[in-house]
Amino acid sequence: MPSPLADPVQLPCGLVLPNRLSKAAMAELLAKTNQPNKPLSEAYSQWAQGGWGSILTGNVQVDVNHLGSPYDPALHQEYKGEASLIAQWKPYADVCQKHGTPTIVQICHPGRQSFRIAGYRGMFASTIAPSAIPISLGSGLIERLVSCVAWTAPREMTKGDIERVIRQFVDTARLMADAGFSGVELHGAHGYLIDQFLSGKTNIRNDEYGGTPEKRARFVLEILTEIRKAVPATFAIGIKLNSADHSSATFEETMTQIKLLVNAGIDFMEISGGTYEDPSMMGYSTSTSTPNSNTTPIKSERTAAREAFFLEFAKEVRARFPGLVLMLTGGFRSRVGAESAIRDGACDLVGIGRPAAIEPGFPLRLLDESVGDEEARLPLNKVPAPFYTRWLPKNIIGAGLETTYYSGQISRLARGLATFAPTWS
Ligand SMILES: Cc1cc2nc3c(=O)[nH]c(=O)nc-3n(C[C@H](O)[C@H](O)[C@H](O)COP(=O)(O)O)c2cc1C
Repeated sequence: MPSPLADPVQLPCGLVLPNRLSKAAMAELLAKTNQPNKPLSEAYSQWAQGGWGSILTGNVQVDVNHLGSPYDPALHQEYKGEASLIAQWKPYADVCQKHGTPTIVQICHPGRQSFRIAGYRGMFASTIAPSAIPISLGSGLIERLVSCVAWTAPREMTKGDIERVIRQFVDTARLMADAGFSGVELHGAHGYLIDQFLSGKTNIRNDEYGGTPEKRARFVLEILTEIRKAVPATFAIGIKLNSADHSSATFEETMTQIKLLVNAGIDFMEISGGTYEDPSMMGYSTSTSTPNSNTTPIKSERTAAREAFFLEFAKEVRARFPGLVLMLTGGFRSRVGAESAIRDGACDLVGIGRPAAIEPGFPLRLLDESVGDEEARLPLNKVPAPFYTRWLPKNIIGAGLETTYYSGQISRLARGLATFAPTWS
């Protein structure tokens, strides 16, 4: 039977993704001057030949003053159609799409999750957030110390800040369209600024941007609406969103916000989960950790058998919004797992992160009918924790080790070197 992974998918904007396998966004940590450069192009030239149906870039920050990592590509100034900026970004878009793979740029503002050393605003300047709620890795002394060292406290955004950041998202999207990319994905997951607005834990405003799930969604809806006005109708606009636990009090609130995004005409929605405080996007959760242990894999037996971390939530979204193009990311390691998620109707697109950093041509193997199911997989061990990390906050360690390890592999891709899966766990 032909694999459903090989079927194309058309987004509402008209963009056709030639198959169901998407390289998920992974911050590359390669842009030393926060601009696209040769190492980025080298890494993406490998994914461009990898048989992906779509490529999502690592996060591009909309304001160079507020970066997620010191080496994120970013917008350095207002964009007014300058040819010099297009000339800077176009070679990157061309490399990604050289073999016809639509490439979607993930655009982001980290808000309160911008590390002290990341961004041109200065080490002591505050971060910005919907409300002045600092990041908390825990109540212990070490946890509080690490939080203070890693991040400055955020200040509550003024209306002027909100207008400026919306404009920065629009400018970045317009530049990406002018440079020739196929779309943008708003990073609305993992505790970054859009997610901070959506969540009642981090947004306690009582103006038009907070107070109810609908008002908390206003920030992202304005970004979406303004981008739509500024880019061609064929340019895709998607969003990466955090899942909510069915049993949690916020589940229906998340569904309300998804409905608003669907009504506003989002082209696709990628489901992920987690924040720096609770990194479930990497398969870790702090809620089940015992004191002094490392973080614990969260997959229940049932979801482990089905690989994907957020499968049940994706199914619920699918049931309520059958017309929404859904991407599910996190945990996919095999053809069987990816096919079963598509056949079950949990999602239309399968997002693959860490395996893509080890094997940039993973889809070529998954889509090759002469390769048996046993071979069409790339199981990955957890990245081992060095002994000294036992004293560090457990929430950040598991995810931090994973991102450090795999960004190291992306750096190897950029230098044309062989990559290696973690060998022990
Ligand atoms: C090195 C690295 C960097 C990442 N950077 C981003 C990012 O920039 N934006 C994002 O949405 N997710 C990012 N993620 C999360 C992935 O997109 C994905 O959600 C996560 O790795 C789970 O998928 P996987 O199990 O296939 O790796 C990153 C993950 C890794 C390993």
